[in-house]
Amino acid sequence: MTDTKSLRSRKWFDNLDDPEMTALYIERYLNYGLTLEELRSGKPVIGIAQTGSDLSPCNRHHIELAKRTRDGIIAAGGIPMEIPVHPIQETGKRPTAMLDRNLAYLSLVESLYGYPIDGVVLTIGCDKTTPALLMAAATVGMPALAFSVGPMLNGWHRGERAGSGSVIWQARQELAAGAIDAEEFLEIAASSAPSVGFCNTMGTASTMNSLSEALGMQLPGVASIPAPYRERGQAAWYTGQRIVDMVREDLRPAKIMTREAFKNAIVVNSALGGSTNAPIHLNAIAAHLGIALSNGDWEEIGHAVPLLVNMQPVGTYLGEDFHRAGGTAAVIGELLRAGLLPHPDALSVTGQTIADLYADMPILDDDVIRRAAAPLKPNAGFLNMSGNLFDSALMKTSAIDEGFRARYFSNAEETFEGRVAVFDGPEDFHARIDDPALGLTDDSVLVMRGAGPKGYPGGAEVVNMRPPSYLIKQGIRALPCIGDGRQSGTSGSASILNASPEAADGGGLAILKDGDPIRIDLKQRRVDVLLEEAEIAARRAALDAAGGYAQPDSQSPWQEIFREKVRPFSEGMVFEGATEYRDITNR
Ligand code: FES
Ligand code: MG
Repeated sequence: MTDTKSLRSRKWFDNLDDPEMTALYIERYLNYGLTLEELRSGKPVIGIAQTGSDLSPCNRHHIELAKRTRDGIIAAGGIPMEIPVHPIQETGKRPTAMLDRNLAYLSLVESLYGYPIDGVVLTIGCDKTTPALLMAAATVGMPALAFSVGPMLNGWHRGERAGSGSVIWQARQELAAGAIDAEEFLEIAASSAPSVGFCNTMGTASTMNSLSEALGMQLPGVASIPAPYRERGQAAWYTGQRIVDMVREDLRPAKIMTREAFKNAIVVNSALGGSTNAPIHLNAIAAHLGIALSNGDWEEIGHAVPLLVNMQPVGTYLGEDFHRAGGTAAVIGELLRAGLLPHPDALSVTGQTIADLYADMPILDDDVIRRAAAPLKPNAGFLNMSGNLFDSALMKTSAIDEGFRARYFSNAEETFEGRVAVFDGPEDFHARIDDPALGLTDDSVLVMRGAGPKGYPGGAEVVNMRPPSYLIKQGIRALPCIGDGRQSGTSGSASILNASPEAADGGGLAILKDGDPIRIDLKQRRVDVLLEEAEIAARRAALDAAGGYAQPDSQSPWQEIFREKVRPFSEGMVFEGATEYRDITNR
């Protein structure tokens, strides 16, 4: 138990050695109604890192939920203080919400470090909010408890489940093929967002919220409760209550988010069919804790794990179905029972082990969450690809459907050779993809470059490129795609993505030209351009002489700072030097 005298907020509110500063610090916190008695009573001050706002609709329900979190904090003897977090809305921010992950991280670190906060509730939800807040918790090192806003209710369109994001990818193809008009496109999009909450598919939001529970950073069973359900408000109260005790117990993030916990999370991610953004974010959180975690670990630990969750984009169901089937808790329980979770003894925010908490969490519908003995797919984790164009890129094997595998990787070696069509960013793709002069066939490989953290600051979610409309009309719904950008977690595409280093950072994709022959080798985990060494060297020299891969100018001061500091996707897109600052409130 921490002696209340050692709480860091005492330095502001009750410092007998410096009564003058204490008076100055304390006066403004009195002017909205806090009393001297409260502030000098030794109660832990709990920040509620508030990610909800009118700019951030996915997390906006946290404004309401925070009222119950406050009640829980007060009931347990703490003092709540709500802290605004820089807004991040996945679908609204231009050029990409990913650009603001590190900005929200940096600003929350300053807020938590610079003010009288003893512990923090992290209100997570929309894609980048979860990693930004967990990264900040890692850096500051004070007790922290994550709390999801929860997924939206299921969306429905004409009697079918309409999954957020996923239905948009399908509707785009229908629009390109002329099967629907713009009006119906809008109607479909709106139907997939029926309530407050985050995306109801197993996109990046559901993935990261589930993984925060798998890491031990959320109360058990909380990640998957739909946002509007009453249990969500009740979980807010329990979260508020628990964080106060975590401060008293001095239960810090570094005790929970260990390398063992990350290994558990990688396994859970495979079972979920989780997003290809997860490795970027978990590698970043780990880096801020000083824990080594690489894309190689993701393949080594995660590849052989079976797919258990039958949720869009790779499966059928949505968030409400997932919750009723037992949610993330049931997935962790099933992995434990099957002996697949590598570290059952990892600690949770409750102070108990994952095994203690989850071993008896049942699957309540085994069509939505499959049993480990009858999975949707074996070997559902990522492949970590490399070759003569990049050092590391990921492929989500759970997203390879049978038709695609039969068309491209049916030989015993699981290799495919094709010719590339190369696009410099999403604008170039949209301008040229339907141009018949490109002459694309089903032997074409679409390559996207200039879409990584430096090239398109933050990295664009654009590697899952659709074929040209003339091929879609022939029934070709997907071509192999490779790129240094990302793809939305709600896309079911088996692209090879997050290629590091990116074209704008000296990566080999920069030397490709339309029509170059390329080989993808799934068994050897390689992607190689089939050019002579001398030709590759000559193209590299020409590129260097021209000053490197051309990228567009920054549009804001932050974009410029970001580009100067950022590390590749494979290293979590963290900032150079930032990971040296660890546990800063305990130094
Ligand atoms: Fe916010 Fe998907 S867009 S969670
Ligand atoms: Mg996204």
